[in-house]
Amino acid sequence: MAPAPIEIDHLTKRFGDVVAVDDVSFEIAEGEIFGFLGPNGAGKSTTIRCLLDLIRPTSGSCRVLGLDSRKDAVEIRRSLGFLPSDLAMYPNLTGRQTLEFLAHLRGGVDWAWVDELCERLDADLGRRVAEYSSGNRQKVGIIQAFMNRPKVAVLDEPITGLDPLVQLEFHAMLRQHVAEGNTVFLSSHTLSEVERVTDRVAFIRHGRLVAVERMDDLRAKAVRRLRLEFAAPVAAEEFLSVEGVHEATADGATLTLQYEGSMAPLLKAATSREVLSVESGSLDLDEMFLEFYRDEVAEAGADADTARGDAADEPTTTGAGGV
Ligand SMILES: Nc1ncnc2c1ncn2[C@@H]1O[C@H](COP(=O)(O)OP(=O)(O)OP(=O)(O)O)[C@@H](O)[C@H]1O
Ligand SMILES: [Mg+2]
Repeated sequence: MAPAPIEIDHLTKRFGDVVAVDDVSFEIAEGEIFGFLGPNGAGKSTTIRCLLDLIRPTSGSCRVLGLDSRKDAVEIRRSLGFLPSDLAMYPNLTGRQTLEFLAHLRGGVDWAWVDELCERLDADLGRRVAEYSSGNRQKVGIIQAFMNRPKVAVLDEPITGLDPLVQLEFHAMLRQHVAEGNTVFLSSHTLSEVERVTDRVAFIRHGRLVAVERMDDLRAKAVRRLRLEFAAPVAAEEFLSVEGVHEATADGATLTLQYEGSMAPLLKAATSREVLSVESGSLDLDEMFLEFYRDEVAEAGADADTARGDAADEPTTTGAGGV
């Protein structure tokens, strides 16, 4: 079996007293678009920098296509495309000159392919980098990451600064890239930013992996909202017992619901009456993202309480979720 394109194995990185990455392990499979999510300072860029051998792990290791990040860094670079979160570019070069310079460092690229990428992202390569808008800088960064048709693309916050139309095209580009047997690892601040494009996501907070989930599973778990308009007044209580329904409020003949999972039981219950209209709200993934982190805060608080309680009569123990 071919090795996983990316393996992070018990990775820990400390900066003095700060534990930026704390015993993080996960694997990304070939052909996946994998999202790495977390708030500011969570440890995303630090993990990525270790993976790229830009900094040295305190302990643990990373592998790319079965090769060790540290020992085989040069070989890895041939199959890898990388967009750093803080891409440095020469201000006096144009976008095209920047790409030519980077292509030269990599021993040449297929310019027809680079031109295709520019066209897709609607990048203006004629201007000097100093004159670029942040979105245009990001486009040049993305193009340089893909210009050698990498087996593995590692992108630190690629969507930052891209307008919605360019984001759509960028997502289509990523899908095409993985359909050709390649793999994409990208970081982001929110789930809603990447939910349309990622297959799986890992959540990191304070350097710790909170969860790794399939996007399909998260969608199924996400709370959805529904507004039903009936021909006659309804009682909310009748719907609270329906499978998947969390909340129900009635205002005359209007019923507002929150539910998760399949809509089928709910529709069955609703259509026993005369329904005038159904309005379905979108998945609230931003809320779900926040829930992941709120839960962690609550757990950390609970652990701290337990630790204080334990201290009185027996040795302090810290649970797996303790900080
Ligand atoms: N070179 C460094 N020296 C000291 N501390 C650092 C260094 N790099 C990162 N850190 C610290 O490590 C932690 C993780 O930072 P990191 O840049 O990995 O977060 P991030 O998830 O990428 O955040 P953001 O979304 O803001 O980019 C932070 O507390 C940060 O201050
Ligand atoms: Mg970062």
